[in-house]
Amino acid sequence: MDNKLFTPGPLNTKLSVKEAMLHDMGSRDKEFLEVVNEIRSELLDIAGLTPEDGYDTVLMQGSGTFGVESVISTVIPNYGHLLLLTNGAYGDRMKQMAEVYGIRTTTLKYKENIVPLLEDAEDVLQNDTTITHMAIVHCETTTGIFNDIEGIGLLARKYNKVFIVDAMSSFGAVPINLKACSIDFLVSSSNKCIEGVPGFSFVFANSSILETCAGQARTVSLDLYSQWIDMKKNGQFRFTPPIQTILAFRKAIGELRSEGGIEKRAERYRLNYQRLIEGTEALGLKTYLNKKDQGYIITSFLFPEHLNFDFTRFYESLHERGQVIYQGKLSDTNCFRIGNIGQLYLDDIENLLTAIKEVLEEMGMTFCIAN
Ligand SMILES: Cc1ncc(COP(=O)(O)O)c(C=O)c1O
Repeated sequence: MDNKLFTPGPLNTKLSVKEAMLHDMGSRDKEFLEVVNEIRSELLDIAGLTPEDGYDTVLMQGSGTFGVESVISTVIPNYGHLLLLTNGAYGDRMKQMAEVYGIRTTTLKYKENIVPLLEDAEDVLQNDTTITHMAIVHCETTTGIFNDIEGIGLLARKYNKVFIVDAMSSFGAVPINLKACSIDFLVSSSNKCIEGVPGFSFVFANSSILETCAGQARTVSLDLYSQWIDMKKNGQFRFTPPIQTILAFRKAIGELRSEGGIEKRAERYRLNYQRLIEGTEALGLKTYLNKKDQGYIITSFLFPEHLNFDFTRFYESLHERGQVIYQGKLSDTNCFRIGNIGQLYLDDIENLLTAIKEVLEEMGMTFCIAN
């Protein structure tokens, strides 16, 4: 049996999703092009959108970062000015991209346990009318914090800015109303909460804005505009597509529908999260974030303050029991992370909690375990 992945992805997937990959198809085959078109319209549908809402979807080869980079490097013109709000590694990665492409950027950087403040963003928008675009990560997977995309979106609408959201680890897990949040570009990837396998990212794009981006891309392969035009014209990727990953993704969307859509999946993930928190609290583990800011996708836990605690041993002992957790990614606090997304159910959370208890006992940390 495969290990259980309590990570931010790649995640455990259904057997049916993996089995969907057992086919060969040519990248120009009519059958394959139909699958691409089907996925593009299914994505709109599961997001509660129709083409009349003014959105379209574009698939982009590569991992999630490639999707984010295709947006940053294509949709912000040379005269553009990006207001970036960041409280973690993935927000910082967008800043790094903007720097590489020489995009003028104003960054509001917060500590990893603080949600970016609307009043700070509004202050910048009032004082600097050259800002053209705004960007933020929805679930900053560095910690698991949920950022306020609705509030930032309202500011984007009020000040008429293009709004970019990295929803890598939240799309499929959290119902997101793109229109209500005034989101113009939203990025996620195949191996997150749609529960497909790795290989491509996808972008929801405000069609009328993407229309204006011809010739703006700063790279050849990540040109979101050209990819969109070709995909609209004939369903083709410009360069070799990850065929089997796409087939798996179509199946994963079908499985999401069978589960009852994003709302129902959100419910399962939320239950997983609640049991995880209850169970780890009983074991004496403490979370890094305030409960009110903590999302239900991935949770950062502080290293227990106990001389016997050794993260490598903890990780490896859990791994030997088939339970894979994730190391921390915080700049100044020792944490590890536990995700509860993908093909995970309450029984899996229970098994993980049992394994954690055993390992803490093995490490002689029983005092940490509350009765
Ligand atoms: C919020 C967020 N953005 C970007 C990425 C990068 O995605 P990838 O590792 O697939 O390139 C991740 C990965 O977990 C993420 O969680």
